[in-house]
Amino acid sequence: MAKRYRIAVLPGDGIGPEVTAEAVETLRLVGEIRGFTVELTNYPFGAEHYLKSKETFPPSALEEMRGQDAILLGAIGDPRLPVGMLERAIISGIRFGLDLYVNLRPVKLFAADLCPIKGKTPEHVDMIVVRENTEDVYAGIGGFLKKGTPDEVAVQEMMFTRKGVERVIRYAFDLARARAKAKKLTLVDKANAVGAMDIWTRTFAEVGKEYTDITPDHAYIDAACMWMVKNPESFDTIVVSNMFGDILTDLGAAIQGGMGIAASGNIHPGRVSMFEPIHGSAPKHAGRNVASPIGAILASQMLLAYLGETEGAELIEESVAELFATGKLRSAGTDSGVGTKEQGDWVRQSIRRRAASPSNP
Ligand code: IPM
Ligand code: MG
Repeated sequence: MAKRYRIAVLPGDGIGPEVTAEAVETLRLVGEIRGFTVELTNYPFGAEHYLKSKETFPPSALEEMRGQDAILLGAIGDPRLPVGMLERAIISGIRFGLDLYVNLRPVKLFAADLCPIKGKTPEHVDMIVVRENTEDVYAGIGGFLKKGTPDEVAVQEMMFTRKGVERVIRYAFDLARARAKAKKLTLVDKANAVGAMDIWTRTFAEVGKEYTDITPDHAYIDAACMWMVKNPESFDTIVVSNMFGDILTDLGAAIQGGMGIAASGNIHPGRVSMFEPIHGSAPKHAGRNVASPIGAILASQMLLAYLGETEGAELIEESVAELFATGKLRSAGTDSGVGTKEQGDWVRQSIRRRAASPSNP
């Protein structure tokens, strides 16, 4: 019997619905080709839903998602609502609620033209960032004192636990091994200024003893930003705390062709996990058929890889890579001159062609 995957889909706000539609159509096509079906459950959460119902993200939805195989998210955020309200309720709600402790963010350049750094080609930009996803300032430990007065105090703690740090470091070492590239893992932190980050230094050294085939490497976050621009080829696998990872991966997205192309997986190995493009809801581009669907399509590729549909995932990645490598698609920005829908169609044409060619059974 054909395999069936149950996937929760949250298109969300702004350009979220249009890019998610392309990702979903691509998933369905790959399913037809590879012999699996996707059973989708759509969730309406986002700004429109909130404005109508005053509901952000109910606990019942999280419970339903626990029973699915994966979650595909478009984008969340709307200028009509208080800054971060929906993002915290929905994105953080899922990351924390499902304990998705790995935020996996590949930084891979498909064509030299896409890279804003002079002289860098695909062989120079091919790394993967493992961002911790459930701790740090994102955990929300803190608050206000005397809010709104001249004596106001605001505090939010950079919080790390031994268990939280160790599990993500272990995941990163395993990944560095599985990638079989440079077999190097770079720890990125700021232990020189933030004393508490010593927990990363010590845990990394201890866990590293079990991975003698992996070369341990280290960079402070400020220097890591500099190296990523100057010598991106020096990175293979990176492990980094939550907020520094957030910042570093926008830089990563920029050197691989922009926010439109970057995808991510929010993962708890063995459990239902969530996949999303790195870009936000970009409200000013919504509904204009100009947003790149590539980040969302690559999120669906990561989703399939996570579910073990390796060949299907490769079909998607190779098809996207081909569009850029051949110059058919020259940008993942809103200036590409090719519509959201048309880019999705191009990816699917390429998938069909690859699937039909004898060398790709
Ligand atoms: C990301 C985003 C989120 C984050 C926001 C929307 C809360 O920037 O996924 O990188 O900070 O994690
Ligand atoms: Mg971010």
